Amino acid sequence: MTISIEKTISPKKKPDSNSLGFGRHFTDHMFIMNYTEGTGWHDARIVPFGDIPMSPASMVFHYGQEMFEGLKAYKSSTGGFRLFRPDKNIERMNSTNDRLCIPRVNPEDALQAIEELVSIDRDWIPDQPGTSLYIRPFIFATDAFLGVHASKTYMFMIILCPVGSYYAAGLNPIKICVEDEYVRAVRGGTGYAKVGGNYAASLIAQKKAEEKGYAQVLWLDGIEHKYIDEVGAMNVFCVIDGEVITPALEGNILPGVTRDSVITFLRTKGYKVTERRIGIEEVYNAAEKGSLEEMFGCGTAAVISPVGTLDWNGKIVNINNDRIGKISGLLYYNLTGIQYGTVKDEFGWSREVK
Ligand code: PLP
Ligand code: COI
Repeated sequence: MTISIEKTISPKKKPDSNSLGFGRHFTDHMFIMNYTEGTGWHDARIVPFGDIPMSPASMVFHYGQEMFEGLKAYKSSTGGFRLFRPDKNIERMNSTNDRLCIPRVNPEDALQAIEELVSIDRDWIPDQPGTSLYIRPFIFATDAFLGVHASKTYMFMIILCPVGSYYAAGLNPIKICVEDEYVRAVRGGTGYAKVGGNYAASLIAQKKAEEKGYAQVLWLDGIEHKYIDEVGAMNVFCVIDGEVITPALEGNILPGVTRDSVITFLRTKGYKVTERRIGIEEVYNAAEKGSLEEMFGCGTAAVISPVGTLDWNGKIVNINNDRIGKISGLLYYNLTGIQYGTVKDEFGWSREVK
């Protein structure tokens, strides 16, 4: 694919890498490509970061035909950068596209777009420990039309943000509120896909949790409100009596790239990892008996985030005395080590771009 490049004539001042937070600062350039029925994807270009003109009738504003992805670039010691399993994000991008009737993107073109854009803005990749460049590819419907149908035109864009930790707590254990009223996804819905609408539907519970002092919500299944699904922006794992347990992929949770990496890494190291349904009662019973050794969430933005407190309708449990557990620590060290290139990558996950 040929990507035309227009460089900015007014580069922005870069933020202080000690206080990046998440998702606040954007780099100098962005990638855009259009889709037109009959022509396919065309006009791939990298242009200065900025606003885009849109018709107020664009279908994305009315029916939410939109998807997004999230991955990171890590500065490598050799001056280049590393991407972590970008093929998995691109595969998930196309699985989401299928669900939303958005045309697929050629995986090689998507990877090329990511790599060229990050290369152009490589000076924006922060190098403080725990920082990286977050890559946000997204696609949305652009037909100016109010009938409820799949659009015939789309835009695929990629923007980049230098980021620190997603949670203010960093690697410290976070407080999570179990959501009993609202649901995020149901089987047959879009829970397994990365669509903006899932997050829009989650905001009310997230707001309620934040008002009570919690970082995020733990979603229960949409049918019985009995089984744990995932946390707002991450998949979740429990360690009970030495066994690592995570909800199985049954269509309602996001198949996280980090989740898959955690499972593969731990199994390779000899841990017993089980993918199955886990009742919230089972988690509370284990906590009462003292056999809930650890609980943690994982995701691209959240990395590995130990859970220190759970609140389910006012029933509060403290996990591992609010400390970072052995398995959470091991995973954090090894996964981030592979991502930054400081730990040997025996899995072939880290892709170095010079
Ligand atoms: N679950 C949800 C709802 C998410 O938003 C994310 C973040 O992308 C994840 C899980 C973790 O997925 P990944 O590890 O691919 O980032
Ligand atoms: C990610 O981890 O990439 C996410 O998309 C989480 C997010 C919704 C901020």
